[in-house]
Amino acid sequence: MIQNSTKAIGNTNMITQSSISILHKENLQEGIFKLTLSSSFISKKAKPGNFVHIKVTPNDYPLLRRAFSIHGTDKKNGGLEILFKVVGKGTEALSKKSPGDTLDIIGPIGNSFYLPEKNKEIMLVAGGMGIAPLWFLFTCLNHRFRQNKLTFFLGAKSKNQLIYAEKLKATKTRLITATDDGSRGRKGKVTEVFLKEIKKGNYDKSNLVVYSCGPPMMLKRISEIAKELNLFCQVSLETHMACGVGACWGCVAKLKNGSYQRVCVDGPVFDAREIDWK
Ligand code: FES
Repeated sequence: MIQNSTKAIGNTNMITQSSISILHKENLQEGIFKLTLSSSFISKKAKPGNFVHIKVTPNDYPLLRRAFSIHGTDKKNGGLEILFKVVGKGTEALSKKSPGDTLDIIGPIGNSFYLPEKNKEIMLVAGGMGIAPLWFLFTCLNHRFRQNKLTFFLGAKSKNQLIYAEKLKATKTRLITATDDGSRGRKGKVTEVFLKEIKKGNYDKSNLVVYSCGPPMMLKRISEIAKELNLFCQVSLETHMACGVGACWGCVAKLKNGSYQRVCVDGPVFDAREIDWK
């Protein structure tokens, strides 16, 4: 077990376990919360794709920690953001926390997205809560790339579930929204909207870098598209994590070469074309 000190684990960054305070809490939409936490260590070390593992209550229920993608950092002031939706007991307990409360947290954990060369064209494809890690990546890329080199595909079931559409619009980055019911943006799955856009033939496919996060079926589909069109595409996988530090092998993903990789420390970011979705 990691103690309250820094320690290197596997191929991850230096990680730490510590008790940190909640600085700020926002209820963005029904059941969706953003917490800003105080951790200068994690905020300095974190890279897009990394996550933190949080003990959501001081007692033993729920027993297991919960994993949350790092959603943003404020390196200057030591702030660290997570974005989450209430989906069970753990996230429900976390949603009831208030500024000033403390959380036991381990991080930053996991690998990170590849950051492309400046001549590349970037596409980010987020479905639902997949915006959580992609927003952090987007804010880093937005500093490095001209706006016409970035396109953000944002999808959800309906307009009420589209997260950050207005925030992205305000950045002036090219934003393509898609909803299953057509209540905002293009009608249909965001993956199919992405595919149609690429098939228009306006892009040099060999120069594209695609990043995606969202529900498993969406990532499976984006992986098929990446394979079909031979696109460089990285996906961030989300799964239940017991230990979160590479010890229990309870979070594995199977690759097409037959090997198993731990999502927590070998991932969560993988080349979409390498994952065996069967
Ligand atoms: Fe234990 Fe990944 S959660 S090895």
